[in-house]
Amino acid sequence: MEFLDVVRRRKTTNGPFRPDPVSREHQRLLMEVAGRAPSQLNSQPWRFVIVEDRATIDRIASISGESMTEAMSNGTFFERYKPYFRFSADEMAEKRSGMLFDKLPALLRPFTKQVFTSRGQKLMNGLRVPQTLGEENRKLVAGSPLLLGVMLDRSEYRPGELSSFYSLFSMGAAMENVWLTTVELGMGIQFVSFPMEVPGKWQLIVDLLGVPDDLELMAVYRLGYLPAEQVRPAIDWSSRERKKPSQYVFRNSCATPETEWDGE
Ligand SMILES: Cc1cc2nc3c(=O)[nH]c(=O)nc-3n(C[C@H](O)[C@H](O)[C@H](O)COP(=O)(O)O)c2cc1C
Repeated sequence: MEFLDVVRRRKTTNGPFRPDPVSREHQRLLMEVAGRAPSQLNSQPWRFVIVEDRATIDRIASISGESMTEAMSNGTFFERYKPYFRFSADEMAEKRSGMLFDKLPALLRPFTKQVFTSRGQKLMNGLRVPQTLGEENRKLVAGSPLLLGVMLDRSEYRPGELSSFYSLFSMGAAMENVWLTTVELGMGIQFVSFPMEVPGKWQLIVDLLGVPDDLELMAVYRLGYLPAEQVRPAIDWSSRERKKPSQYVFRNSCATPETEWDGE
């Protein structure tokens, strides 16, 4: 595949993966490209744990589903992320960022305007939306043939110091190499991040993976091969929109947005 096509086709997979195990060769390749990433003084502060053990994946899936139900039913998730939620194509065309919830059960569509109100929260809880979404999330994670834990070496990643920015940047670069390579391999990838949203849940995964004190677990991803026909979850979003260059590129100084490429 052409490199630029890979970059343009890279995306997050919200739906299920095929159950097929990820080949050892593809696992080796994903770790090779991660390790090729740039890092401050070539310190390579990243560490990875590849999880194929069924019991471990099922346990992390339960933790993720429970976390989603909790974050959705106590309102923290909507409160925290409402600036990114879009419920109409017009709103998305205007903002050109965030998540467009373009797949919603008919029952919920009339209430999208209330989703951020306490009345809306009561309604969703009454309709058990958090439980439905939590169970769907558990199934998605449990149905993944492979989870990838990403850690940083604490001797490099020292929050509050310049090294923490460097380490996070390097980790991001390593993960982008992995993300791009999934495109080439016919695979998909998605954050398993709800356990980060609920106090105490992340520590359960840290303990489960036996993360030693000198490493910090920074993220968990689910990976797998993409089915020929991708089934969208009952409640789903798309986030292919991007800002126009003039909205994020400047020329010579920040007083001059770059407007030449907007139509391209
Ligand atoms: C730091 C970070 C955190 C993210 N967290 C989540 C997440 O919790 N769940 C999810 O489905 N996607 C998550 N994503 C993926 C973004 O939602 C996605 O990259 C964005 O919407 C653009 O969509 P695309 O990746 O399909 O181009 C995250 C991405 C980044 C870089």
